[in-house]
Amino acid sequence: MKTTYLSVFDVEKDAENINKAGAAIAGGKIVAIPTETVYGLAANALDENAVKRVFEAKGRPQDNPMIVHIASFSDLSLICDDIPKIAKKLADRFWPGPLTMVVPRGKRIPSSVCAGLDTVAVRCPSHKVASAIIRASKVPVAAPSANTSGRPSPTTASHVIADMDGKIDMIVDGGASDVGLESTVLDITASPPRLLRPGGVTPDEIQSVVGEITIDKAVTEKIDPRKPVRSPGMKYRHYAPRAPITIVDGAPYKTAKYILSVCDRSDGVLCFDEFKDMFRYTFCVSYGPYGDSAKQAFCLFDALRSFDETDVKRIFAQAPDASGVGLAVSNRLRKAAGFSSVTAPRMRVIGLTGRSGSGKSEASDVMESLGAVILDADRIYNELTSSSVEMRNELSARFGDIYLDSGNLDRAKLAKIVFSDASALSDLNLIAHKYVVDVFKARLSDLREKGEVCAVIDAPLLFESGADALCDIVLGVISKRSLSMERIMLRDKLSEENADMRISSQPDDEFYRNACDIIIENNASISKFHDEVASFYKNFILTRGDFANV
Ligand code: TXA
Ligand code: MG
Repeated sequence: MKTTYLSVFDVEKDAENINKAGAAIAGGKIVAIPTETVYGLAANALDENAVKRVFEAKGRPQDNPMIVHIASFSDLSLICDDIPKIAKKLADRFWPGPLTMVVPRGKRIPSSVCAGLDTVAVRCPSHKVASAIIRASKVPVAAPSANTSGRPSPTTASHVIADMDGKIDMIVDGGASDVGLESTVLDITASPPRLLRPGGVTPDEIQSVVGEITIDKAVTEKIDPRKPVRSPGMKYRHYAPRAPITIVDGAPYKTAKYILSVCDRSDGVLCFDEFKDMFRYTFCVSYGPYGDSAKQAFCLFDALRSFDETDVKRIFAQAPDASGVGLAVSNRLRKAAGFSSVTAPRMRVIGLTGRSGSGKSEASDVMESLGAVILDADRIYNELTSSSVEMRNELSARFGDIYLDSGNLDRAKLAKIVFSDASALSDLNLIAHKYVVDVFKARLSDLREKGEVCAVIDAPLLFESGADALCDIVLGVISKRSLSMERIMLRDKLSEENADMRISSQPDDEFYRNACDIIIENNASISKFHDEVASFYKNFILTRGDFANV
């Protein structure tokens, strides 16, 4: 079939196109039209044959009823013979606009429009083009969203073309839909009224007009598709891109860090604008700022569709705040995910240790690039030697005049003292470890507060300092002595003899193999080492999480 394209951006200037679209609908044709929520596939609701073709074009299950669109409240009597009283109250407040009411089905409406139900869903769109086309057609207009069944609803004419070109008679382009998500569906044959699908009109707004309403379970939970449901549309996986989605629940910073920790380059990420920069190496689409549900509603379907233009294998999505219009955003995203979600776990602490030159810092760089925050024991010790008055006093009391006039520690002098005297070295460690571990504790508590997913304590003397007690797991990096020596001679410009001395003063492989929970050897290529560290890290974050459902 050849699809005709028309555009209407100004209802008066483009009146001819409005009339063409209206006449086509009245004559039994299928026309995609813009509405303020999403694009709809419009057909004459009184023409069973046209209605049948809409089901076919969408590939829609026959048991999923359609919404009938009218141009004003007075037309409701064409569709419903026994109009519930609160319909008028709701219409006065929300029509024209994105609220659909489920009312008893009038005799004129064919049963196939409503998939055999004795109720019918009705809405009066506020979009000027939709309204003008419905008026021009002079019939009630059945219009489901203009997507292939199961795919995200279209919010632009090009989305409609992607799904419907060649399958329907006409597409009317009227620009992007304002709301971006389908209408709120409220069953007013139930008492109290029941929210079947959240949308641009929020539960609070409805309650301010009609008092208490109930929210159907299917809005927030996966339901058993074999059981009868109040709104058949709710039981299908919906709005879904081809790759499976996992929603990550939790505060936004934490969920972003969690996704960064577990995703691979072949994955896609759906995040809030604020976190887009975190995901430079994965295909990432943002869907508005965290605090702006209306913007998220506007962007969501387009964002979901954009994953289909890539070959991402999995999609991780930051969970939106589900209040106000956010309930609709959350509902669509959860349906797209088939309600698959995980909760970002409590912060984990990885201890990282090994001899000099083993590749510990490489390992810490890899974990940092995956979102971990690194607490480097050597760096903290060096900072403390000048910033902590208490530590300085303790060091001076034990080792004498070891501070320069500038206030900095005279490292050479201290080194001389401790390397020739084992008890001096052990005293230095006792003092230093106490202060460094206190800093670890304070920083870990700040990082937890901030919502970090993982901290790495990078410490050559992790066990000796007792910092291993702060860790959930300890990773030891070991490498052949000859390789370690080469590395430190190059890095620290040491002679062979000094490098040998340094390594000899440190524990042997056996020590690390016994004390650490996991060992990674760094003897082959650097990229293999990186891959092994990354895979340990991701695995650890994934499997040690407190997950809701994996
Ligand atoms: O914003 C919208 O409502 C868009 C635009 C085009 O108006 N239309 C739309 O239609 O989203 P559709 O067919 O994609 O979704 C209709 C929803 C489905 O979940 C369906 O199950 C429900 O409304 N529905 C229709 N008639 C119903 C009825 N009699 N009782 C309960 N739910 C009904
Ligand atoms: Mg739909």
